[in-house]
Amino acid sequence: MNICHREGGQCAEMAMVCLTDFEEYAKEHLSKATWDYYAAGADECCTRDDNILAFKRIRLRPRILRDVSMSDTRTTVQGTEISFPVGIAPTAFHCLAWHEGEVATARGTEALNTCYITSTYSTCSVEEIVAAAPNGYRWFQLYVYRDRKLSEQIVHRVEGLGYKALVLTVDVPYTGKRRNDIRNQFKLPPHLKVKNFDGVFQQEASVPEDYGIPANTLDPSISWKDVYWLQSITHLPIIIKGILTKEDAELAVEHGVQGIIVSNHGGRQLDGGPASIDALTEIVDTVQGRIEVYLDGGIRTGSDVLKALALGAKCVFIGRPAVWGLAYKGEEGVREVLQILNDEFRLSMALSGCRNVAEINRNLIQLSKL
Ligand code: FNR
Repeated sequence: MNICHREGGQCAEMAMVCLTDFEEYAKEHLSKATWDYYAAGADECCTRDDNILAFKRIRLRPRILRDVSMSDTRTTVQGTEISFPVGIAPTAFHCLAWHEGEVATARGTEALNTCYITSTYSTCSVEEIVAAAPNGYRWFQLYVYRDRKLSEQIVHRVEGLGYKALVLTVDVPYTGKRRNDIRNQFKLPPHLKVKNFDGVFQQEASVPEDYGIPANTLDPSISWKDVYWLQSITHLPIIIKGILTKEDAELAVEHGVQGIIVSNHGGRQLDGGPASIDALTEIVDTVQGRIEVYLDGGIRTGSDVLKALALGAKCVFIGRPAVWGLAYKGEEGVREVLQILNDEFRLSMALSGCRNVAEINRNLIQLSKL
């Protein structure tokens, strides 16, 4: 039973009404080091916090008397239908939040028929994840390692397992400076592993560790030519995660990738960069429909989803809220988080006069306020 510690303990069972209820629960129940790791932003956390505030600055222009008795939240990503335009962003180490880890995330996402981007840094292996939710729609998030063979092997593994796209994260040439992780000397506990690379890294005690893998494993020399390299070893669509400018969006299109996730890594990398919703418009205007544009960072309500779609995102992804759901009740918690967002999105659509996602467009936004 979940005891409510708010309002002087008047309510016995805490009603989970919105995503911040899950945040409160997670903060209360996770260890300090784990909570700090999930919550962390880089440096002063300006960008992390602005991801949320920027959504609150945007105002909508609702239309009325449009018969919203029927509504349809379905959409497609990369040609596949999903039940609503919200998926799960890749986040690491789900076993820290819930003993079943990514297996529970995969099941919860499969139940809502949407997209789960599995992190490279999973604490369950990709084989375990696929076996747990065989009908789930999944993309795999990839980093490029100094040892390209390592990246190549995981690409072929996930291709063979039926993952439908590769999400190349490009905003981590080095890990951002997350102060509390340094203060806490954050490390994966010994019983947990980066399962996809179990036994691959010959970790010696003398080699410093960076979030579960030997430091310096990621390749900071990665550049646009590596996109061509990735294309040469896979047939899967490639989606670049971590673009924040129109210049890089144009380069992504020119390099023949199939999608962009506008993202600042939840504010965990460069502090002082834009909120992802504030970067979206220039990217959508540059891309002009040539490839799909998605967004993550700061999505906490259904009207945040509506605003991102109105500004041109095809779909959005949630990072921390999925982990809060896991911390609450594993698979069921992930399902509840997604269901609440689905219900809120449906309601926001109806209250602004949209019957389906095709009717959501920039006219819904008070542009004078941007
Ligand atoms: C992340 N993110 C991330 N991104 C990625 O490409 N690979 C990864 O392994 C991780 N790991 C990770 C761990 C944790 C704890 C967080 C909070 C984030 C970034 C993630 O995919 C996404 O960009 C943000 O989480 C989106 O912001 P919100 O929804 O958390 O506000």
